[in-house]
Amino acid sequence: MRRGVLVRVVAVGLAAAAVAFAVAFFVPWLPTPASKQAGRIDFVFWFVTVICIGIFGLVVAVILYSVVRFRARPDDDSDGAPIHGNTGLEIAWTAVPAALVTAIAVVSAVALAENEHLPKRHLRVNVTAQQFAWSFSYPTYKGLTVSTLRLPLDEAVELKMRSKDVIHSFWVPQFGQKQDLVPGITTRLVITPKRLGTYYVVCTELCGEGHAIMRSQAVVQTPGAFAAWVKAEEKLAAQAQGGGGGPGLAAFNSNGCSACHTFKPAGSKATTGPDLDNLASYARRAGKPLAAFVQQSIVDPNAYIEKGYQPGIMPTTFKSLPKDQLDALVQFLSQKQK
Ligand code: CUA
Repeated sequence: MRRGVLVRVVAVGLAAAAVAFAVAFFVPWLPTPASKQAGRIDFVFWFVTVICIGIFGLVVAVILYSVVRFRARPDDDSDGAPIHGNTGLEIAWTAVPAALVTAIAVVSAVALAENEHLPKRHLRVNVTAQQFAWSFSYPTYKGLTVSTLRLPLDEAVELKMRSKDVIHSFWVPQFGQKQDLVPGITTRLVITPKRLGTYYVVCTELCGEGHAIMRSQAVVQTPGAFAAWVKAEEKLAAQAQGGGGGPGLAAFNSNGCSACHTFKPAGSKATTGPDLDNLASYARRAGKPLAAFVQQSIVDPNAYIEKGYQPGIMPTTFKSLPKDQLDALVQFLSQKQK
């Protein structure tokens, strides 16, 4: 190959690599990482992508060179020269890919091992999934249970995850990892948030009719703001206890009601299901006494569907609530009506 030709072939390869790099770099394929773990996953992504771009440039250059250099003339019907074996080339095209694949395997294994590592100092959060809501409880803070995940910046968090019914999957795109929640076993995920902000918690396992609305939020706060939030929540819980919320409020929170319903006495503002501050007027429309209506709506949610809402969205698993919890919940919801 003449030197001028070689320079042109290399230039074509570099141009192809530049185009591939632009596609990889300027299209936002992955969200900006918001956790240490997502940063490591991003590193693996770029490690593999850069190797692929190099191979792409090489292949494009060789193909274009071959097409131009070895093109047959229109009137040329002869066969090409017979070719067999090139030991040097064969060793190269076996050894180089083997080395690259091994490198990718090692880098991936290191990233996975680091992402699973849980530092001694960490926060524990229990995640509960059910059709179709998330709830998060903090054993460190007297079992404080909420429907929005709040995490302090730069502190490792261990999520212990359980499902009450079918398989769900926990995913915050900016945190970079997914983990299934499987009935009967406890799964875990380690997250170390490193960017302030509010992100979606998405269920990524088709889990029933309400799968598409099974979303919550993860809020990453400064440690100071997080501590202040915990304090405010604990004060609210104490007030509710004093104001007669007691076991009813506890049942309301631990069963994930706050994930879907607005109810002022419980401080919840979700809008997936009907606003529970208006239970009295729903009961009137359903033609039932308030307490009986509330009880029926919990154990058999499809018996009466408020206008503007869909049947089959609220879980029917509450029919197996322990009687004391159900009674407390009915009392809490009925008494707090205007
Ligand atoms: Cu839970 Cu999809």
